[in-house]
Amino acid sequence: MKVLIIGPGALGCLLAAKLSRNNEVWVLDHDLARAAWLAAAGLVLAEGGQETRHFLRVTAEPEQVGLVDLALLCVKSRMVEGAVASAWPALREAALLVALQNGIGHLDVLPRLCRSICWALGATNQGATLVGPGQVQHRGSGPTWIGLPPRQFGGEPAGRPSCRQSLLLAAETLSEVGIPTEAVADILPRLWNKLLVNVGINALTAINNCPNGALLDDPESAELMAAAIAEGALVAKKLGIKLDRDPLAAARAVCGATATNLSSMLQDLRAGRPTEIEAINGAVLRLAGPLGLPLPVNEALVRKVRELERNQGRK
Ligand code: PAF
Repeated sequence: MKVLIIGPGALGCLLAAKLSRNNEVWVLDHDLARAAWLAAAGLVLAEGGQETRHFLRVTAEPEQVGLVDLALLCVKSRMVEGAVASAWPALREAALLVALQNGIGHLDVLPRLCRSICWALGATNQGATLVGPGQVQHRGSGPTWIGLPPRQFGGEPAGRPSCRQSLLLAAETLSEVGIPTEAVADILPRLWNKLLVNVGINALTAINNCPNGALLDDPESAELMAAAIAEGALVAKKLGIKLDRDPLAAARAVCGATATNLSSMLQDLRAGRPTEIEAINGAVLRLAGPLGLPLPVNEALVRKVRELERNQGRK
C-alpha cells in the first residue's frame, strides 16, 4: 500500500513508523523546514525498550506525493479544515481518507470538505508521546475502529462504490503492523465511546500534570473521571447515541493500558500549544446546552484547562 500520513505529531509519527514496515509511507508536514529535517534525520520510534529509526518520504508539498491508497489525517481537531485544504492535491485521488482526531469537532467540517472522496472516521486508543520532532514513544496500545460516515454525515460519494473495500483494506493494513483495527458498520457509538474516554482522561491529566495511569491511583481524580464520563454519557443518551461499551470501564482500561503515556492534552499544554478541550469536554457542553442538561463537572474541567492554556501562553 502507498500510505500518506498527514501531520507528524505523536499519532502520525507512530503510524508512519509502524506502517513503513511493509508499506510505502509518505508524511505530509505543513512546516517546510521540519519536513526537510525529518526526511534527513528519520523518525525514531521507541517501543518495548527498543529504538528504531525510519527514513521516510517527508514533504511539505502535496503535489509530490502522487496517488495514494490510504491517507491518514493525524492533525489536531482545530487544524482539520486547513490540513485537508492544503493536502487536497494528494487527497482528491486518494482511495480513502481516514480522520483520526480526538473529540467530535471535526464531524462539523469533514462532510463538507470530503464530499467528492471516500472518507472514514476513526477512533484509536493508541498511547503515543512525542518527545521531540519525529521522536515518538509508543506507550500502550488499545483498539482502533474505523467506519464510513453515517448517512447524516454524507455517506459515500456517487461513483465511488469501492469506499467499503478501501475501508476493509485499511483495517487490514493497520492490523498487520500491530495497530489492531476493526472496520465497523456504525462508527458513531465508537466515536462517542472514545470521546467519553477522552472526556474522562485528557482534561484531568492536563490539570493534574500526570500520566494516564495516575488517575486510577488518586481517589479524587478517579471520582471526577467517573462524574465527567457520567455527564457525557447522559448527553449521548439524550441524543440517541447507543454506546456499545461501558464508557467508564473503557476509560479505566485505557488508563491501565497506557499508564505511562502523557495524554495528548497534557503534551499540548506542556508544549505551549492550544489543547483540544473545545473538541472534547467543550463539545459535550455545547451539545448539552440545548438539551437543558447541566454538566457541572465538565464545566469546571473546561474552565480550568482554559485557564491553564492562558497561563502557559500559546506558541
Ligand atoms: O488523547 C490521547 O492522549 C489518547 O486519545 C489516549 C487514548 C487518551 C491515550 O493517551
